Amino acid sequence: MKNYTSIHDIDNLHSWIEDAKALKANPLKHVTLGQHKTIGLLFFNSSLRTRLSTQKAALNLGMNPIVMNVSGDAWGIEFGDGTVMNGNTAEHIKEAAAVVSQYCDIIAVRAFPTLTDKTLDESEHVINAFIKYASVPIVNMESATGHPLQGFTDAITISEFAKKAKPKVVLSWAPHVKALPHAVANSFVQAMQKMDVEFVITNPEGYNLNPEITGNTPITHNQEETFKNADFVYVKNWSSYSDYGKILNTDPNWMITKAKLGDAKFMHCLPVRRNVIVEDAVLDSDSSIVIQQANNRTYAAQLVLKKILERSP
Ligand code: CP
Repeated sequence: MKNYTSIHDIDNLHSWIEDAKALKANPLKHVTLGQHKTIGLLFFNSSLRTRLSTQKAALNLGMNPIVMNVSGDAWGIEFGDGTVMNGNTAEHIKEAAAVVSQYCDIIAVRAFPTLTDKTLDESEHVINAFIKYASVPIVNMESATGHPLQGFTDAITISEFAKKAKPKVVLSWAPHVKALPHAVANSFVQAMQKMDVEFVITNPEGYNLNPEITGNTPITHNQEETFKNADFVYVKNWSSYSDYGKILNTDPNWMITKAKLGDAKFMHCLPVRRNVIVEDAVLDSDSSIVIQQANNRTYAAQLVLKKILERSP
């Protein structure tokens, strides 16, 4: 594996999960693997978990992490080919990616979608430009359409907490005050499609995710009915895909409550808005495994970096 940009880069999810659990049991076992190697973490958008867990993962492998808030601290980067750069952008991605490659052995990038230009977002122009113009491996720390470090983490967490061979997993939309990307939901869908689980998505009318990603996964519009017998309820807001980037529904009846959740475990990638997405009573109970889920971000990232380092010269 050269780059990690999608859940589809995982060749065998079951063995990756077992490998990540082994790293979790002995995080410093490979502490010399990344010695004298540097990872550059480039953030075009905010982060808490991804920023800290990916640094921790790199440190556990003996790497030196360098972190940059690109949008705030770097020169404005131009991605257009042949652009006359007489506007706000001062540096082209051709030079920027090539230069960062001189300092770093791996580059990890976070770049959210516009949610206004579906074609541009689906072209994944930022992460693909880094792949094209950098000379080192690229890791996706959440792009326009995917968050594969999160999706892999979620698979590890479900594997850890599952009490039966084929648990029922529900991905549920919940309301939010802002228009949010589809990336987390997309990667979760792709991860669950690779796992031995009974997987259902529930969301309001107008909120079906990209059908090329959901494929044959069942989609319902009746949340409470779908939650019956669920072992895991994974909750996320996303904006409309068909009416791209729009908020069509803010119905608080879609918020997750303790009564609706039943005996299922509650999962969310975080950050989560309390009493908008989910009521306090859920997050403050043993039903919530969001902290254990966030902890697994380190080992998901660590396995990805380990696999890249093992094939690097
Ligand atoms: N879940 C997640 O990616 O969190 P951050 O946005 O804080 O990195």
